[in-house]
Amino acid sequence: MTDKTNFDTATRIAAGDDGTTYDGVAIALHWFTALLVFANFALAHTWDWFAKPTKGLMEQAHMSFGVLLTAAILARLIWRWLPGHQVSSLEAGWVKLASKGTHYLLYLLLIAEAALGFAFRWGAGRPMAFFGTGIPPMIGEMARPLRRELREYHEWIGWGIIVLALLHALAALYHHYVLRDRVLTRMLPSAANERA
Ligand code: HEM
Ligand code: HEM
Repeated sequence: MTDKTNFDTATRIAAGDDGTTYDGVAIALHWFTALLVFANFALAHTWDWFAKPTKGLMEQAHMSFGVLLTAAILARLIWRWLPGHQVSSLEAGWVKLASKGTHYLLYLLLIAEAALGFAFRWGAGRPMAFFGTGIPPMIGEMARPLRRELREYHEWIGWGIIVLALLHALAALYHHYVLRDRVLTRMLPSAANERA
């Protein structure tokens, strides 16, 4: 343990926080992220059922939510990196390893998904739609075959995120209903009130 961590821990304990509960910002960002991921998955897999004006609006909603999702992931990563915001694991051994591995993999896939979304949209020389406005391209144009390939990766990584997130949610429910521990409750909005 470094001196900094000791100081953080001491400060937190002095403030009545033992570092085993997520704070309000972390909890809000987690559920906002989850909501946007499910919404974007649903939009992308249903917009083909609709005709032109509706389909276009769904694609724009997907992009707008995508920008918000990118901001939420970056905010979460910065927040958990700032001193004093680390949460200790409630698990031990291989379960701790599996849970940490899943969380890091989710972050990695989410970042890749966002980067690919921006890359193939901007790579086509088109702005990223954002609630009626557009964020102009910040990269140069790409050849069409490369864009198509990146779009395919975006689709597959989207599936990866959904499958992993569902397994992750099942694990959380197993903790809550079978093991009856605090893993799920410390991520629920009520935990933020307890900590405040
Ligand atoms: C697409 C949906 C989801 C994504 C991308 C996601 C992602 C994540 C990530 C990255 C973490 C680690 C947080 C951190 O410490 O920085 C986490 C924690 C957590 N998530 Fe999710 N999550 C999703 C949905 C859900 C759902 C539906 C549930 C509950 C049924 C859930 C329950 C939890 C719990 C309980 C934790 C804390 C785990 C612990 O304390 O070790 N998540 N989630
Ligand atoms: C986990 C969340 C996400 C999932 C599951 C997802 C999934 C998908 C899927 C399946 C497609 C259709 C691909 C195709 O037709 O070949 C798509 C298109 C697209 N996605 Fe995502 N995506 C997500 C997040 C994002 C993010 C963060 C961005 C960036 C801001 C983004 C930007 C785009 C763009 C620009 C398109 C093309 C829209 C169009 O047809 O004009 N997506 N996405």
